[in-house]
Amino acid sequence: MDSIYGNQKEILRQVMDHVVGKIRDYNEEIKDKTGHPIYEHLICRLKSEDSMREKCMRKGEEVSPVTALKVMKDAIGIRIVTGFVDDIFTLIHKIRCIPGFSVIEEKDYINNAKPNGYRSYHMILEIEYPYAEDILGENPGRYFVEIQLRTIAMDCWASLEHEMKYKRTIANQQMLVAELKRCADELASCDVTMQTIRNLIRADEAKE
Ligand code: GTP
Ligand code: MG
Repeated sequence: MDSIYGNQKEILRQVMDHVVGKIRDYNEEIKDKTGHPIYEHLICRLKSEDSMREKCMRKGEEVSPVTALKVMKDAIGIRIVTGFVDDIFTLIHKIRCIPGFSVIEEKDYINNAKPNGYRSYHMILEIEYPYAEDILGENPGRYFVEIQLRTIAMDCWASLEHEMKYKRTIANQQMLVAELKRCADELASCDVTMQTIRNLIRADEAKE
């Protein structure tokens, strides 16, 4: 079977490395300057062929490379996990300013948590990539990348909630949903407190 990404699979990996490289460079730069990294870890993935085909079908779209790369915008996914909430907003500001990166969509599930308690900040970027032609033959190519930013606490919660969502039948479902929501809110409260503690520590350091 032909790839859902046509002849673009290798280029998608290059675009992903290009974007990840810019974010890692920024982390190094800020670590040199302040002694602290801006994020704890970063993961990236190319959406699997099966998941992309399934998503095209689910959305009622043609299952084709053009749909996969130009209608769906998360073939390339990057998740940045930080220690603290402020670091997320510093990163968002920095990402918006990187030349060749345009933000075309943002969802702030941190200030507007989903009803289930999900928190994260989502950005869809359009990347101008000068080294390749995209699926429409445009050069420089234009590629979409989804970036999710969340704290360690939000990430831990999202993994657990994801695990539950993919179990079709589960005992005590209602109680688990309610307990998960409670955990999400408690974690959010801890994130705020930890941010405040860090601010106080850093303000003190600055005085020394
Ligand atoms: P797509 O068409 O899938 O892009 O839907 P959307 O754009 O409406 O989704 P959204 O941007 O809200 O979420 C996209 C991704 O965020 C998902 O694939 C998950 O990785 C993550 N996500 C969103 N909501 C939840 C949630 O309630 N729980 C968990 N665990 N992850 C979520
Ligand atoms: Mg989306």
